[in-house]
Amino acid sequence: MNVPYADLRAQYHSIKPEIDEAVLQLLDSTQFVLGSRVAAFEDLFAPYCHAAHAAGSSSGTSALHLALLALGVGPGDEVITTPHTFIATAAAIGYCGAHPVFVDIDPVSFNIDVSKIEPAITPNTKAIVPVHLYGQPADMDPILEIATRRGLGVVEDAAQAHGAEYRGRRVGSIGDLGCFSFYPGKNLGAYGEGGAVTTNSAELDEAVRVLRDWGAREKHHHEVKGFNYRLEGIQGAVLAVKMAHIERWTEARRVVAARYDESLAGSAVVTPHALPDRRHVYHVYSVRSDDRDALAAHLSADGIASGIHYPTPVHLQPAFAELGHGRGDFPEAEAAAASILSLPMYPEMPVEFQERVAESIHAWSAK
Ligand SMILES: Cc1ncc(COP(=O)(O)O)c(C=O)c1O
Repeated sequence: MNVPYADLRAQYHSIKPEIDEAVLQLLDSTQFVLGSRVAAFEDLFAPYCHAAHAAGSSSGTSALHLALLALGVGPGDEVITTPHTFIATAAAIGYCGAHPVFVDIDPVSFNIDVSKIEPAITPNTKAIVPVHLYGQPADMDPILEIATRRGLGVVEDAAQAHGAEYRGRRVGSIGDLGCFSFYPGKNLGAYGEGGAVTTNSAELDEAVRVLRDWGAREKHHHEVKGFNYRLEGIQGAVLAVKMAHIERWTEARRVVAARYDESLAGSAVVTPHALPDRRHVYHVYSVRSDDRDALAAHLSADGIASGIHYPTPVHLQPAFAELGHGRGDFPEAEAAAASILSLPMYPEMPVEFQERVAESIHAWSAK
């Protein structure tokens, strides 16, 4: 049997009766957009993130767009982020008419190198968007210190980091706002698209809620030009059920990661480095190898799936050619993109599958 990268069916089957009942009730309620199940989910998700508020949105991308707009990011502004991320982080900055300004990553954590943020600040800088890539929080204390001193907003891209912690604080409650994705394969996955914006500020939460629903607090009265960025009722129903299980799944991911760490020791790959003051939630378990493509081909020949998150840094994507970047501008991000390989990782992953992955990597290492 092949080893899949993830197995969404295994998770569905483990909670099928609860999900099926919640979805059937939702259908009967006909609250297909927002509604009481979305509100119930928001009431569970905010405290889970140690945040005062959570507003569901139509995706992680719309969550980022809403958060940036709520902070007042607009045309001509600059927003600092990392090029080693999913395209959505930079795209959302662009949707506001603002420009992403990239800062290279720290090669150990794969997250923004905080020592390089300050030189990237200009009079046009409005905000910083650290990405908690793969489920490990960025180094938030220095980021907050710089942001406070320089009068900048902080939006956490926590799309891959539900439940991750930095020095005892949960992501989504550390910056001004936090943005989550519930794309099906995420640590907390909807059965379709979904996202959320968290914040401790009642004012920012209100701004997000108004913007996600056509800029209207009351029907037919549009205070601002808003969007159709609402979370569907069916996703609220599914996500509310899943909140009872998210901690168990997160701990299961951490067990899978610990097993990989141990079983891959002495092989030719570099395993991820979990920093001691953080709770890494392993959305992605990414190893490094100088011969990555050969390793991926070897695993594939052994029936083992793998992924690359992400093969081309955002500053080298054609979509952002207007920024005028070239190869060599962000060497650590480029080196990471060329050497990373994401191994199969999901809470229900059987031990035998993990053993097969480790055996295959050791066999390749011995070649
Ligand atoms: C780091 C990061 N930011 C933003 C997003 C966008 O989320 P979504 O796909 O829900 O729009 C994703 C998800 O793919 C992501 O991994």
